[in-house]
Amino acid sequence: MPPVITSIDDLHAIYRRRVPKMFYDYCQSGSWTEQTYRENETDFAEIRLRQRVAVDMEGRSLKTTMVGREVTMPVALAPVGLTGMQHADGEILAAQAAEDFGVPFTLSTMSICSIEDVARKTNAPFWFQLYVMRDEEFVDNLISRAEAAGCDALVITLDLQILGQRHKDLKNGLSAPPKMTPATIANLATKIGWGMEMMGTPRRKFGNIVGHAKGVTDVSSLTSWTAEQFDPRLDWGKIRKLRDKWKGKVILKGILDAEDARLALDMGADAIVVSNHGGRQLDGALSSIRVLPDIVEAVGDKIEVHMDGGIRSGQDVLKAVALGARATYIGRAFIYGLGAMGRRGVTQALEVIRKELDTTMALCGEKDIHDVGPHVTLVPKGFRGEWERPAPNS
Ligand SMILES: Cc1cc2nc3c(=O)[nH]c(=O)nc-3n(C[C@H](O)[C@H](O)[C@H](O)COP(=O)(O)O)c2cc1C
Repeated sequence: MPPVITSIDDLHAIYRRRVPKMFYDYCQSGSWTEQTYRENETDFAEIRLRQRVAVDMEGRSLKTTMVGREVTMPVALAPVGLTGMQHADGEILAAQAAEDFGVPFTLSTMSICSIEDVARKTNAPFWFQLYVMRDEEFVDNLISRAEAAGCDALVITLDLQILGQRHKDLKNGLSAPPKMTPATIANLATKIGWGMEMMGTPRRKFGNIVGHAKGVTDVSSLTSWTAEQFDPRLDWGKIRKLRDKWKGKVILKGILDAEDARLALDMGADAIVVSNHGGRQLDGALSSIRVLPDIVEAVGDKIEVHMDGGIRSGQDVLKAVALGARATYIGRAFIYGLGAMGRRGVTQALEVIRKELDTTMALCGEKDIHDVGPHVTLVPKGFRGEWERPAPNS
């Protein structure tokens, strides 16, 4: 009997049993004390929903658009590095599940399956997430490859030029493929299903990098690659140049401050993603849902505002949309599904969220996702926080 999946938690429990500790910990961590990582989730719980009754709820629709693309619900799959280590061929399987479901898939620069691999195995265009590297030729090459593969949006991640420390990754010696230490071997011995599938695929290294980047000494270690290759000098001037290079839509990811949102708008971006990288970078930063209303207030009428961080249910998606997000992304929620049961698990994760979103919207008295606004929520007084703010740009 296949397990009955009724929530993202169910997928999480199976995922935890199935996937090697090194990759589970990689997904399940935030930086340093993990305050921001935790608050991404717990702040959603502070917002309550308004129950409305005696409202005709037939003919509901969750359909909307994200940067011009029609989506069956306001949820895309976020870029997640090493997805192909959570399950063999993980990026291909997740992209196929997203395509079938009618939501966008975003391929990370730090994926295991390459841009070309994913393009060969899918029909719908996917989005490509770019990390800006020191090696400009390599970045130009990545952009050209994404264009050739038919990617219709470039998601430029702005919040990871240097890496926030995740203690467990250092202790586990995170690498792709895993290095065979006694601890890793002992753990892998308990993950037979994962191992068998991994033996059946040739894709076990960083597919966008190996064979494409020059002079890289250690590709297997994410930490050392990031320190060596990511461009710490990335600034708005460079972002503008990238914007001008890319012919399709540009989404700037990692905005957490209204001032930066205005700067992103000036760059001519098509959308921004309010994000703190799932609590993996600046520990002590506010949760995404808490800063969302400020950013929507600053730029929401001029640019699409997307958000991610802490979404584990359709109720969370509804709250984000109610507070002004055009759409959302899920990171860990789809990884749990993928690690638990491959492509089917990603579909299950999307299906769980769709059902929760649809039913919850109806119980709030709305039939169309476009009509969902602040009126469906009860936000505690002071939710945005009464912070002593420094003067702009000081
Ligand atoms: C394991 C893991 C790897 C990630 N890798 C990337 C990445 O390669 N590029 C990127 O822009 N964001 C990356 N992110 C951040 C996600 O795109 C997204 O912002 C975050 O997962 C949203 O929070 P959630 O996991 O709570 O949904 C990663 C997140 C996780 C959990």
